Amino acid sequence: MIEEIKQKIEELKNTVPTTLEDVEKIRIATLGKKGVLNQYFAAFKEVAPDQKKAYGQIINLLKNTAEAKVEEWKNALSGSVEKGEAEDFSRPSEEFAQGAVHPLTSVRNEIVEIFSRIGFSVSEGPEIEDDWHNFSALNFPEEHPARDMQDTFFVEKDPDWALRTHTSSVQVRVMEGSKPPIRTISPGRVFRNEDISSRSHCVFHQIEGLYIDKGVSFADLKQTLLYFAQEFFGKEAKIRMRPSYFPFTEPSAEVDVYWGLETEADYRITKGTGWLEIMGCGMVDPEVLRASNIDPEEYSGYAFGMGIERIAMNRFGITDIRMFYENDMRFLSQFSSNI
Ligand code: DAH
Repeated sequence: MIEEIKQKIEELKNTVPTTLEDVEKIRIATLGKKGVLNQYFAAFKEVAPDQKKAYGQIINLLKNTAEAKVEEWKNALSGSVEKGEAEDFSRPSEEFAQGAVHPLTSVRNEIVEIFSRIGFSVSEGPEIEDDWHNFSALNFPEEHPARDMQDTFFVEKDPDWALRTHTSSVQVRVMEGSKPPIRTISPGRVFRNEDISSRSHCVFHQIEGLYIDKGVSFADLKQTLLYFAQEFFGKEAKIRMRPSYFPFTEPSAEVDVYWGLETEADYRITKGTGWLEIMGCGMVDPEVLRASNIDPEEYSGYAFGMGIERIAMNRFGITDIRMFYENDMRFLSQFSSNI
């Protein structure tokens, strides 16, 4: 009988069923209630005592082999085309859900890339800031009305901890932590205690730029920003600067890029001027350098700060800033080519 069982094992090993039905037939014939395995188990009591051990081992081997083989055949055959059923090549393919880079991320990456080509490194700072880095070191005197330019979310009073209102705070951290020459941009999230509307939000993103070296002039600033505008908006882009005020720069300016004034959308986007405001900038105030232990007699520098949402809205024709944060798939899936 042992020889017979050995032969069954060999047979199972050499069988290659071609359909799942055949597998099922073999399974029933071998492992089923009335299958051979149960018959061999039933015959156990008739086996001579000195043979019982060898007999027990061989029927166990038959059981294990049969179970493993059935499993193996099933795996190999499931998913394969059943006999007689031809594959339909005109069937729509399975949908492949491809992710996309968020429009704010892609605009940020592009801006970072443009500045990194002219040697700017990337730096980061904390989103919860102390009063020194967000205000005082940037020449916002205490109780000065300039602090009201940016409505602040305070986290803790005395000592003041707040959610940073701008990425200019990272300028201070970079100046404190390194020696000139400094050439860095700082992308990040900022917070303002403002009403939410289609044009403004209480959480948004900025990119700050800082360049400090010997003999840096306003002409360097202008040329760098023209380079940026032409890389980002196209070679034909023109910029203009309008005098402005920021406590941490002197002189200060706001920068517009020429958008055009042909279509109705151009009128709407540029409020009828043809120009689009994209950032604030200026020469770093000597007081700001001094606060971070940089000698303004030896070094000068420029700084700029731009809003990523504003630039992304113009690039993609998005008319409501809230769309960026709602995670609505109908909005996000439109950027799936944006990878
Ligand atoms: N921090 C300013 C803001 O959030 C933007 C800004 C203006 C940054 C001028 C600068 C700058 O670095 O020089 O409104």
